[in-house]
Amino acid sequence: MSIEFKPTVAVEGGQDGDEGKGKVISALFPWIEVGVRCNGGANAGHTVVFNGTEFKFHMLPSTSPIRGILSVIAPNTVVHTGDLKKEIDDVRSKGVEFDGNLKISDRAQFLGDYHRDWDRIQEARRGANKIGTTGTGNGAAYTDLVDRRGIFLGLLEQPDLFKKRLGLVLEEYRGRLRSGESLPDSFRSEYYDPVIEEAIRYIRPYLTDTTVLLEDSLARGKRTLFEKAQATMLDVRYGGYPYVTSSTCTAAAIPYEVGLSKAPDMDVIGVFKAYHTDVGERPRPTKMGDELEEIIRRAGGEYGTTTGRKRSVSWFDAVKARHSAKIGGYDYIAINKADVLTGKGDQRICEEYVFRGERMRAFPVDSLILEECTPVYREYPGWIQDFKGAKNWDQVPPEAQQLLRAQHAAIGRGKLWMIGTGPADEDAIFSFG
Ligand code: IMP
Ligand code: MG
Repeated sequence: MSIEFKPTVAVEGGQDGDEGKGKVISALFPWIEVGVRCNGGANAGHTVVFNGTEFKFHMLPSTSPIRGILSVIAPNTVVHTGDLKKEIDDVRSKGVEFDGNLKISDRAQFLGDYHRDWDRIQEARRGANKIGTTGTGNGAAYTDLVDRRGIFLGLLEQPDLFKKRLGLVLEEYRGRLRSGESLPDSFRSEYYDPVIEEAIRYIRPYLTDTTVLLEDSLARGKRTLFEKAQATMLDVRYGGYPYVTSSTCTAAAIPYEVGLSKAPDMDVIGVFKAYHTDVGERPRPTKMGDELEEIIRRAGGEYGTTTGRKRSVSWFDAVKARHSAKIGGYDYIAINKADVLTGKGDQRICEEYVFRGERMRAFPVDSLILEECTPVYREYPGWIQDFKGAKNWDQVPPEAQQLLRAQHAAIGRGKLWMIGTGPADEDAIFSFG
């Protein structure tokens, strides 16, 4: 890894999530001095391997295992305090000591079980039009923020006022139920007495004004990683609406999300996979077909980190990739898992769509349009020579090189920085001679 990055680097998913952002972050570990988790909640699942130990993070910054590094959970996150405590305990049991270096913004939002029950109730109401959420209450929590019903974790400093605010919120939730829907326990105030006790004991000590910390560490030139969760195509505004998550998933949002007054000097790494996966509901114009999907799912371990759901597998979609690159502003590109495609026959890249008889190169604003789009593919020859674990570009078969070069060209911006060739830290190529 021989690049002079700017003082801050953002890692952003370029597709529909699960591109291997954790792997890219692992490669950056030697560079990082401060790690910030910017958005989302426990809907995310980031797998990182540190000193041979595998960690699956949902809420904690992926930098958490590195000793002595400031790890920040930013304002624009939604935090289930009970689950975060469990995650902290779990990471501790693997030998991680936080030594006072984990900080949670006092403006991060409280996510309670009422958000999860509401997520479930809404999905049930949507019926056939459900979003296929992760069920972690994300959408409900972000809706509460913009609908002015959010509760910031900093209010835990005044437990009586926290309870007062929560009481008002729950009253609203109870009023939303339709006849035939039973009242969840989580809509009652008493439900939260032990939750608040636990949060005061185990989460409150980490709370602080993280803006002050970050402004200070950036002023001192600390090399900072901004870790985005989900991906551009899941962004609430720019993604495949409405089959998106409810937070901002692009690097452009970072200063506001983390509470900086100005955008820092930043490089953005867009992370892609050599094929496309997603979970949940949405139109899939480049879906491979059940048989091949199952083969690739098994070869690539394509099951959700958070929900264990089977990921759908599609061909690399240049319409989405171009859109992501435009919104994401990538300076560098990482492409993972081309090794999974070894021995899987000829390959395809979708170059554009056809919608109602017309060619369409830009990603549509609404999934109702996407539903009627058919893909226009370009074919690429497959290969059979395995290159899993390759560390040099010349170990990659020419056909795989050709496919990766074509994907990089399709993305259309950013310098090719890394090709991931396997799950282990060292399975990567950084030079493309
Ligand atoms: P929510 O974020 O749980 O509301 O789910 C909304 C959509 O985003 C669904 O399609 C989820 O499957 C998807 N989603 C949310 N987080 C992730 C993730 O970390 N990886 C992949 N898909 C995700
Ligand atoms: Mg994931």
